[in-house]
Amino acid sequence: MSNFTTTQTGTPVASDAHSLSHGADGAVVLHDRYLVEKLAQFNRERIPERIVHAKGGGAFGEFTVTEDVSMYTRAAVFQPGTTTETIQRFSSVAGEMGSPDTWRDVRGFALRFYTSEGNYDIVGNNTPVFFIRDGIKFPDFIHSQKRLPGSGLRDADMQWDFWTQSPESAHQVTYLMGDRGIPRSWREMPGFGSHTYQWINAAGERFWVKYHFTSNQGNHEITGAEAERIAGADADYYRRDLYENIAEGNFPSWDLHVQVMPYEDAKNYRFNPFDLTKVWPHADYPLIKVGTHTLNRNPENFFAQIEQVALSPANLVPGIAASPDKMLMARIFSYPDAQRYRVGTNYNQLPVNAPKAPVNNYSQDGYGRFAFNSPETPVYAPNTMGGPVADPGLAGEGTWENDGALVRSAATLHSEDSDFGQAGTLYREVFDDAAKERFLETITGAVSGVQRPHIREAAIQYWTNVDAGLGAKLRANLAAGETTANEKAEFVGVAE
Ligand code: HEM
Repeated sequence: MSNFTTTQTGTPVASDAHSLSHGADGAVVLHDRYLVEKLAQFNRERIPERIVHAKGGGAFGEFTVTEDVSMYTRAAVFQPGTTTETIQRFSSVAGEMGSPDTWRDVRGFALRFYTSEGNYDIVGNNTPVFFIRDGIKFPDFIHSQKRLPGSGLRDADMQWDFWTQSPESAHQVTYLMGDRGIPRSWREMPGFGSHTYQWINAAGERFWVKYHFTSNQGNHEITGAEAERIAGADADYYRRDLYENIAEGNFPSWDLHVQVMPYEDAKNYRFNPFDLTKVWPHADYPLIKVGTHTLNRNPENFFAQIEQVALSPANLVPGIAASPDKMLMARIFSYPDAQRYRVGTNYNQLPVNAPKAPVNNYSQDGYGRFAFNSPETPVYAPNTMGGPVADPGLAGEGTWENDGALVRSAATLHSEDSDFGQAGTLYREVFDDAAKERFLETITGAVSGVQRPHIREAAIQYWTNVDAGLGAKLRANLAAGETTANEKAEFVGVAE
């Protein structure tokens, strides 16, 4: 077989190096169709980067169920002994496509299971909570973390203005400014589904669950100063680490555990179990092991397989459903909408997005469509022509009772709901003394980047609400104008 360069339509071309011109020194002609095609294709190589989580990397793997959780879910992917192909993408949230991996940020931990019942995606983070609890605030939150419209610079004032005006952010900001904010690698961090999901077993019984992925590489972090040095030396530090480890056969793995809350507990639990700014104490709902996820295959083409992967909390399977978490419901709209725009209407037909299960429905056409039903399949439902029909057995899934009236309101308060309580517990009871010290240095550096006095004062008040002693130390540090080299390093990543 010849190996000639060809046009996109398979015709061999005459030259890789010379345009067709009118004489050796003359004008290039428009009917050099290969030149035109090559330049036009090149101009269309970029698609919009993800509006958030633009910088990332990923790999393929497999998930094996090692335990029996069939009493909680009938999902095929979680039945005993099942092994399922996966793809995982890790990311940073705020930075753009080329931003350094080691800037302080929350990290995305997004995993697709290509199950026998369709794609199931857990699109989570390396933290168990989030900054806000209603999706209507998400664009504002992201605007405040990205860039000023005038200068195009990131800005500590708008970051802290948003956070302090949104006290529900305190728990997540405590994670972010703590050691969790700069992992040593993607391999050495945990993952969380963060939201509460519903599981449904074969008998139709419903449960509330939270996902926890524990790294078998351990959890390791780096300091702000080290992260700053690496950001300059190798902006792709995490992406390289993952790729090289998998290439060398050093396959990273995570154990999946779930916390399971009986359906009836939710209503009167001491805090709202659907509030994404809260964790469920393990003493109340202990971790139950499900299985192990291993990444064992690098992408062959980063664009086709990682850039175009369209992971989405809307990709659920029988036995797994949404919960009354307002953030989760907003996300279920947002991701497929973003992906229709970012990748194209028929993005689910691309190999990396196509499920391993058959696709049967009545949608058709649109840009880039290449999969289609046989001409005998009817294009409407209901029909008498043997077209696919829905499964009424699934109707009881993802259901719950509510209070009925349509309102715009915060969720009903439970007895121990508070914006600052769990943030204070994280600072006081989970961070050891050295971690507390690093935390204070980090927030001192970050808040010292705030220019407006009223926002600085609000930030001091915010941390005082988390812990009075912490707030007092921050006030004293800022007054003393303390900025150690480490704090400056933090500032570049956190708040610049
Ligand atoms: C209502 C709140 C949220 C909205 C509207 C939202 C929206 C988005 C959008 C539009 C994308 C880009 C999708 C794409 O183009 O492929 C994205 C990516 C992502 N989001 Fe969110 N998000 C929200 C909250 C969250 C939360 C709470 C988490 C984690 C618990 C999260 C984790 C991620 C991850 C990991 C990605 C990257 C997925 C990938 O690797 O391709 N997001 N988000």
